[in-house]
Amino acid sequence: MKVSRTIIELQKCLKELSLSPVGFVPTMGALHEGHISLVKSAISQCPIVVISIFVNPTQFNDKNDLKNYPRTPEGDIALLKNALRETDIVFTPDVKEIYPEEDMREFHFGNLDNVMEALHRPHHFNGVAQVVSRLFDIVKPDIAFFGQKDFQQLAVVKALVKQTGDKVKITGNPIIREIDGLAMSSRNRLLDPGIRNRASIIYKTLSSANSMIGKYDIPEIKSYIKDAINNVPGFNVEYFEIVDDTELIPLTKKTDIRKGKRYYGCIAVQAGKIRLIDNIEIRLV
Ligand code: PAJ
Repeated sequence: MKVSRTIIELQKCLKELSLSPVGFVPTMGALHEGHISLVKSAISQCPIVVISIFVNPTQFNDKNDLKNYPRTPEGDIALLKNALRETDIVFTPDVKEIYPEEDMREFHFGNLDNVMEALHRPHHFNGVAQVVSRLFDIVKPDIAFFGQKDFQQLAVVKALVKQTGDKVKITGNPIIREIDGLAMSSRNRLLDPGIRNRASIIYKTLSSANSMIGKYDIPEIKSYIKDAINNVPGFNVEYFEIVDDTELIPLTKKTDIRKGKRYYGCIAVQAGKIRLIDNIEIRLV
């Protein structure tokens, strides 16, 4: 694999190799098996894969969160060395390379701006859209790989590509979990040990929404999920919503459910000092 720090170097490599389709996996580093599953999926479909590692300042609405975001450059390169081929490229730009000047662009995503993460992390998705569109312009991928872990982000990226008319195909890959069910996340390494030991409650409780959907109405399911997690010391649910996978409109009652749509239970939890998100498909039959 090659490591490029600059756009010029990266684009020179891509031109020299001239392989297609070009696969792209954007990340913020502190890599784990969730990221590697995207890389493997990209490798299985593309003769050349670019993995970017860039902690994007514009998507952090909280300066402390940006400061404390885990950075593990050596570990990342070691993991990637194992997973990548000779033709693949790791792109590790600095902030000036991505934003030579301040990015003032504003994006609008309709209902996606009015639910869940968008309500609790103002400007977050605008920052995600800024960096993803910038990275797509630089890498010019044919296929880009995202995780379903960031369910709303995936919907935002699909909406972004529709708006810009970019030809890149967006794929969503399944959530990779720890043995106890906790969704893998770069932030998991910041959890206090006591909180980490109890964090399996999130997936365990989310999973129970599936067995409740036939018997209870939406408000009862929402209260049950929130109470079950809030009862665990150190855990506090920020939101739990059951939404469809295209417009992400929260269900308020069972009669809102439409045949032919897929629904997901999406949750954000404050676990000690760390904020975690997760989701699960709600099977209606
Ligand atoms: P980051 O959190 O590093 O995640 C990079 C990609 O890995 C995202 O598409 C995310 O959904 C996916 N991912 C994370 N944990 C996963 C898991 N447990 N299973 C499967 N996939 C997982 O998401 C971002 O970075 C940034 O917002 C980014 C898109 C790079 C823009 O800055």
